[in-house]
Amino acid sequence: MRGEMRRMEWKIPLARPCTATEEIKAVVEVLESGCLSLGPRLDEFERRFANLIGTRYAVGVNSGTSGLHLCIKALGIKEGDEVITSPFSFIASANSILYENARPVFVDIEEESFNMDPGKITEKVTKNTKAILVVHVFGQSCDMDPIMKIAKKFGLAVIEDACESINATYKGRKVGSFGQAAVFAFYPNKQMTTGEGGMIVTDNEEIYNLCKSYANQGRGKDMQWLLHERIGYNYRLSEISSALGIAQLDKLDSLIKRRREIARAYMEELQGTRGIVLPKIREHNEHTWFIFPIRIIGLDRNRIIAELGKRGIASKAYFYPCIHLQPFYIEKFGYRGGDFPVSEKISNQTIVLPLYPQMGETEIKFVTGALKTIMEEEA
Ligand SMILES: Cc1ncc(COP(=O)(O)O)c(C=O)c1O
Repeated sequence: MRGEMRRMEWKIPLARPCTATEEIKAVVEVLESGCLSLGPRLDEFERRFANLIGTRYAVGVNSGTSGLHLCIKALGIKEGDEVITSPFSFIASANSILYENARPVFVDIEEESFNMDPGKITEKVTKNTKAILVVHVFGQSCDMDPIMKIAKKFGLAVIEDACESINATYKGRKVGSFGQAAVFAFYPNKQMTTGEGGMIVTDNEEIYNLCKSYANQGRGKDMQWLLHERIGYNYRLSEISSALGIAQLDKLDSLIKRRREIARAYMEELQGTRGIVLPKIREHNEHTWFIFPIRIIGLDRNRIIAELGKRGIASKAYFYPCIHLQPFYIEKFGYRGGDFPVSEKISNQTIVLPLYPQMGETEIKFVTGALKTIMEEEA
């Protein structure tokens, strides 16, 4: 999706950030203020974000990946430890575990939701397991009740990778408010953007203090500039990004409402098309549609992507390949095709369609019309 956003020749790209005069004004105000880092916008963005998710604390960071790394570190996860996670995700979720030399232990997913299958977690727990890192993919929550039950039974921490699922809910409760810590991401293809950026949320004061310090070169609370209490990183979120984030928070409800309308229109238009399996929303979930995934059955997925491309419509195989089949995971851990059959099946069938709030009815119909024609021609 990343490269695709830059290709201006698409009539309909996969994603497009929704920024307008409010964002421009907010950024210009920061430039005029002379305070470009560690200022009032970061404080306000963190306060409002924690409030949105319903957690006590939030820590702004420069990417979702940085946020995940800090959660792993703040929980004390280290070499020899194991963290249970999903192979059907963007690579950063598993890499964050590798950064601290711990081992990602994969659990296959549910076919219906594309999220970690709670029924397959317990068999993966060993004496070295320290945490479960769940990934709420595509805008939909994992089945959190059984996952939290297993975590409690074995005394494991839960980290939520909520990078793709801002404002999604499970049984009425926001994702990001279940585990010890959670992370959101604001790359321009996300439901809201800060250009680059991420946010850690937690109710735990110790995790909060550690993440604040790690993100700012290990400085302590009193912020003596050249005194470093621990090893740290420069994972700070700038004032410009924070101002963008605040402006996006102001319109988040309408951005997500429009994403839901587009997803509903796709569902209605594509319902009953031979060879297409539409995404499912689980009973207890409110979906916020990071992307719109469809499964192509019995036809060559790459042909469909190529034919859409000829008409100026971006689409993408997603997530392909799965994390365990990425070249350096195969090299490091010896994974093979067939190790996680459900993830691999979904990974081999799924394509994502364009989804961004500025899409109008004409664009939606252009995509669905083209797709239906292609499916008939290719059948
Ligand atoms: C599931 C998931 N985890 C982590 C990330 C990493 O976020 P970022 O690109 O901001 O580092 C992403 C972003 O694409 C993601 O989709």
